[in-house]
Amino acid sequence: MTSEIRVVAPAKINLSLAVGGAGEDGYHRLATVYHAIGLFDEVVVRPAGRTSVTVSGSGVDLDAVPTDEQNLAWRAVAALSAHVGRDLAVHVHVHKNIPVAGGLAGGSTDAAATLVGLDALFELGLPRADLMHVAAGLGSDVPFCLVGGTAVGTGRGELVAPVMARGSYWWAVVPGEGGLSTPRVYAEFDRLAGDTDVPEPELPEDLLGSLLAGDAGALGSALVNDLQPAALSLRPTLTVPLDAGRDAGALGSLVSGSGPTTVFLCADADHAREVRDLVVAATGAATGFVVPGPVPGAKVSAARLAEGPR
Ligand code: C5P
Repeated sequence: MTSEIRVVAPAKINLSLAVGGAGEDGYHRLATVYHAIGLFDEVVVRPAGRTSVTVSGSGVDLDAVPTDEQNLAWRAVAALSAHVGRDLAVHVHVHKNIPVAGGLAGGSTDAAATLVGLDALFELGLPRADLMHVAAGLGSDVPFCLVGGTAVGTGRGELVAPVMARGSYWWAVVPGEGGLSTPRVYAEFDRLAGDTDVPEPELPEDLLGSLLAGDAGALGSALVNDLQPAALSLRPTLTVPLDAGRDAGALGSLVSGSGPTTVFLCADADHAREVRDLVVAATGAATGFVVPGPVPGAKVSAARLAEGPR
């Protein structure tokens, strides 16, 4: 029996995020291009009598992470247990590097990593389709976090399909102060739309073309986020990092998802360090990251076997 599984869980950004109207369930129709980046949480699962969650991390707001049934990792344990009809009780430890409520799918990727960890720990051998199905029930971004790379998301974001993408990119990633609530940002999107007819969301051809060509310059110009005006409306100071990134020569600047993290596409790693330093200096942010993308989805990094009888 395995006594411990460690899983690395990447953050995501949205290279494009087109938001349509809300359906009866309150969720907005999306057409998005997800991109997993090299900023990782680590999730460790160990067998236990009953399920519990602990969190650690530095430079992130741990107080904002629940350690009860509200935690998405805990919900992942409950959802997979229900799916297989067996109590998969574990202790889950989440070591966070991804900013909390930052628009980087931190909670979603922890949930995806928990599913991967449980599958390995209990040797369930579940088909990928089963994990994707359970993931979709946990949150719109969770299926993508299983897949990683660069992928298209439709429906409410949970229907993930591969996209033809070449090349590797460097990003400067600068957390905003505090978090932004995703439902609040969507509500602000609705408020700003008012009575106007919101068009059906579409994938931008220019962005898909730039990914096919592996053209960082064209990708930088094509980055787009329909939630950005709503995030800016709730957090007007987000113009500071966006302006600083543009002034620093970033190929493209964007609020990530529902924010308040801002991301900057750069020519290479050195350029990304330069942009990161200038944006951090302009905003007074405590930290900023230089990361590559795309990276794979949640993956087992280590397994420890239980000591057998001697
Ligand atoms: O799916 P998830 O639980 O991550 O979504 C969080 C919140 O974001 C939802 O409760 C909803 O308010 C909003 N949302 C939305 N439309 C989407 C995805 C999320 O309105 N497609």
